[in-house]
Amino acid sequence: MFSLPLKPTIPFTSPASKPLNPPPKCCKSQPQTERGLSFDIGDTFFRHESSTGRDLGVLSAAIYKKSHNALRVLDAMCGCGVRSLRYLVEANADFVLANDANQEYGGVISGNLEKADMEKKRWAVKHLDASRLLTECYLERDYYDLIDVDSFGSESSYLRAAMCAVKLDGLLYVTSTDGYSSGGHRPQHNFLSRSTLAAYGAYVRHMPYSNEIGLRMLIGGAVREASVLGYHVVPLFSYYSYHGPIFRAMLQVRCGKFPIERDYSFISYCIQCGNSRAFSWDKLGQMRCSCNDVPGSLIVSGPLWTGPLHSSSFLSEMLSLAEEWGWTGNGTGKHIGALLKTMIDESDPVLPFGYINMDEIASRAKVNSPPINSLLRALDKEGYATSRSHIASNAIKTNCPMVDCVRLVKELRRSSVTADEKLHSVIEA
Ligand SMILES: C[S@@+](CC[C@H](N)C(=O)[O-])C[C@H]1O[C@@H](n2cnc3c(N)ncnc32)[C@H](O)[C@@H]1O
Ligand SMILES: [Zn+2]
Repeated sequence: MFSLPLKPTIPFTSPASKPLNPPPKCCKSQPQTERGLSFDIGDTFFRHESSTGRDLGVLSAAIYKKSHNALRVLDAMCGCGVRSLRYLVEANADFVLANDANQEYGGVISGNLEKADMEKKRWAVKHLDASRLLTECYLERDYYDLIDVDSFGSESSYLRAAMCAVKLDGLLYVTSTDGYSSGGHRPQHNFLSRSTLAAYGAYVRHMPYSNEIGLRMLIGGAVREASVLGYHVVPLFSYYSYHGPIFRAMLQVRCGKFPIERDYSFISYCIQCGNSRAFSWDKLGQMRCSCNDVPGSLIVSGPLWTGPLHSSSFLSEMLSLAEEWGWTGNGTGKHIGALLKTMIDESDPVLPFGYINMDEIASRAKVNSPPINSLLRALDKEGYATSRSHIASNAIKTNCPMVDCVRLVKELRRSSVTADEKLHSVIEA
């Protein structure tokens, strides 16, 4: 029905002859713990900062297991195998296939997974190129409920094979760590390399909310691949972390095409007025901002995912489970609770894509930036929808046009100056 690449689209040297990473100089033990689970990282690639991405993956997997009563996971780029271990123990996966192209990691991965199941009944380890493994799974009709591909850079060549190897209605957890490209710094740079155009089919220019654009580019790339196969994807959550930076999306792969032009279009930002909007495909060639007739005032990127970044009902389930597991109380778990709550707020369907940085409003208003909560309250009072952004701590999401944000910031500034003057006169009196 659909075509798969017969060989990886990027040259891949068999790990038997040349590992992707240089072989470890020694194999000393380096014990770690995460969410109370002990594991060893040896000389594998491991980042403690990625633990939130792992938490989100495990919560999603556990919710899937509860609703489907089955969970087979393929951890395609597993490093030391910490995710595989967590999927086995915390999400109670029935089976996990842990793969890393670097065969030098084998001992560390197996050692960690034995902690969950000494008899090796619920897991296996492989050392193949991810695309090759995913293709083999598809050819053998060995489909998985959740496929996690924790890749580097803007690697996307595995996407087609992953879509083929995941069960319908199953989950695909994808990653990009190429913040430089998604920030619009090299839209067409070397088309045959992994530019955004080659990797995700999107021409990305620098915009004030470039890290959200990075998420929309990653999801857009998956939308395109899914559509080729007659599928569509639904983002359950999208997560940006400045460590790396890392862009992640948990996608549910569903059968049936959806009209690709819906929620997959172009995003513009007007440097003149600061407003953003989406342009559908039939408006190509007619793009201009209603604020002016200045040619070149619009910065346009696309095609990108312009639909919702998250499913609020799925996030609410994740939050309830995180609370049930004691991950959201005071102490180390607090962060995940706050993150999920912000993501739920961001999912308000009235809110447009993008976020507005407080500094941009202050600079357009030519005043110092007010406290973010004062502006949110003022917007709320005027009936606008608002939320914080999980991507940028000093930014807001709102359906209020920039011109009114600027007016409100000026008003807030004036009232704070008047309050200061009153206080002074009371002190002086
Ligand atoms: C970001 S690290 C994985 C970290 C791990 N998932 C975690 O949460 O700690 C990416 C891993 O992918 C492996 N890798 C790189 N290219 C690969 C490929 N084409 N196929 C399979 N594994 C690959 C690397 O050896 C590396 O261990
Ligand atoms: Zn404009």
